[in-house]
Amino acid sequence: MIKSKSDPSTTANTMWGGRFAAGPDAIMQAINASIGFDKRLYSQDITASRAHAAMLGATGILQDRDVTAIREGLQTVHEEIERGAFSFSVDLEDIHMNVEARLKDLIGEAAGRLHTARSRNDQVATDFRLWVRGQCDSAIEGIAALMRAFLAQAEAGADWVMPGFTHLQTAQPVTWGHHMLAYVEMLSRDLSRFRDARARMNECPLGAAALAGTSFPIDRAMTAAALGFDRPMANSLDAVSDRDFALEFLSASAITAMHLSRFSEELVIWSSAQFRFVRLSDRFSTGSSIMPQKKNPDAAELLRAKLGRIMGAMVALFTVMKGLPLAYSKDMQEDKEQVFDAADTLMLGLAAMEGMVRDLAANRETLAAAASAGFSTATDLADWLVRELGLPFRQAHHITGRLVALAETQGCDLPDLTLAQMQAECAEIRADVFDVLGVENSVRSRMSYGGTAPDQVRHQVARWKEVLG
Ligand code: ARG
Repeated sequence: MIKSKSDPSTTANTMWGGRFAAGPDAIMQAINASIGFDKRLYSQDITASRAHAAMLGATGILQDRDVTAIREGLQTVHEEIERGAFSFSVDLEDIHMNVEARLKDLIGEAAGRLHTARSRNDQVATDFRLWVRGQCDSAIEGIAALMRAFLAQAEAGADWVMPGFTHLQTAQPVTWGHHMLAYVEMLSRDLSRFRDARARMNECPLGAAALAGTSFPIDRAMTAAALGFDRPMANSLDAVSDRDFALEFLSASAITAMHLSRFSEELVIWSSAQFRFVRLSDRFSTGSSIMPQKKNPDAAELLRAKLGRIMGAMVALFTVMKGLPLAYSKDMQEDKEQVFDAADTLMLGLAAMEGMVRDLAANRETLAAAASAGFSTATDLADWLVRELGLPFRQAHHITGRLVALAETQGCDLPDLTLAQMQAECAEIRADVFDVLGVENSVRSRMSYGGTAPDQVRHQVARWKEVLG
């Protein structure tokens, strides 16, 4: 438990303590300090400071000698942090002040000039944008890798038949490759969402200073270019106060995680003893401590659940931002932990899913047997009645329904009915109807663009191979 401290001798903060007689209460420090988590921004913070210092030198705002000292000092700080030789201090609140204080130890008073023409408000907005931008790149990479894994499955099983479901009831036969490609499509949209978000967030807040810009003759285009941004943000109030880029990242992450959770659920169902559609590799399963026969799809179950965390982060940050007046408010310090956790969760989830998909072994026989169960070619029969006999679809649907009911009472599948039984329902039915009742023929016939026919699947696989390289 944190004790409130009333010791008046506590010293004021050296960074902003000019008008303070005493340091913060211990409870204040505990709620205020962000160094515990924002130290993750050290690299972005130092990179942005270096760009800022170089610009201050180039514009003549700082003397070259100070700029050199700052550059070298920041390099040392970066190395110390990388080596684990840096001691972070809660007294210094956040990463920005921790870095600057260490810089002062190293180079003396010149360190105090680094903060000319900037504020922690534009500093944190810049650092965080850089960090989130990097995570967009990681997400794009992780999603592309997962798409390749699904694509390999699709290519191997372009013509393996399996049941397609609606309402989790057997609907029509589909191909394994087609099912795998459905996820490639979903993931490609996820990937493009991260690309779009990245492009939109790639503007530089640095130089907005506290909120109003600065009276120093800074060159914002120079810092923006040095940090790989397309341009400086055009409104200083907006630059320090919006976190929409983080919300876009979280939204894109939540949608991606939703897709991962859907395939996870399918894996859980498919790997059960009742389905036995797939075998998960030992690498992504666990045993039970009491039931020796068990092999549990833990990774899939966890991935099914992880969306909860990511959506939680998104809702939390929306709630933080809702109703905040311009410009910066300390509320916004609550952005980082949510985004850090969501990003870590997403990257781990993508890697785990990629591993599972690569290792996934489909039980072709079980899939094929299940594909023909449940009267899965009833639609093919109805379509045949329309195509070959010219019946209206509704009537064809009705006749087929009666034949399904008959097969059900006989305890057999549709292709097991005799021609005579069929003709009792519709005298015009001919023997060639049986051609469409087999699942292989059924999937082969679904040649419409985007349909499940193996030829369509191969066509899409070829297209995706070209896109993904
Ligand atoms: N740690 C702060 C944050 O994450 C940095 C900005 C602080 N700015 C300020 N005016 N207190 O938002």
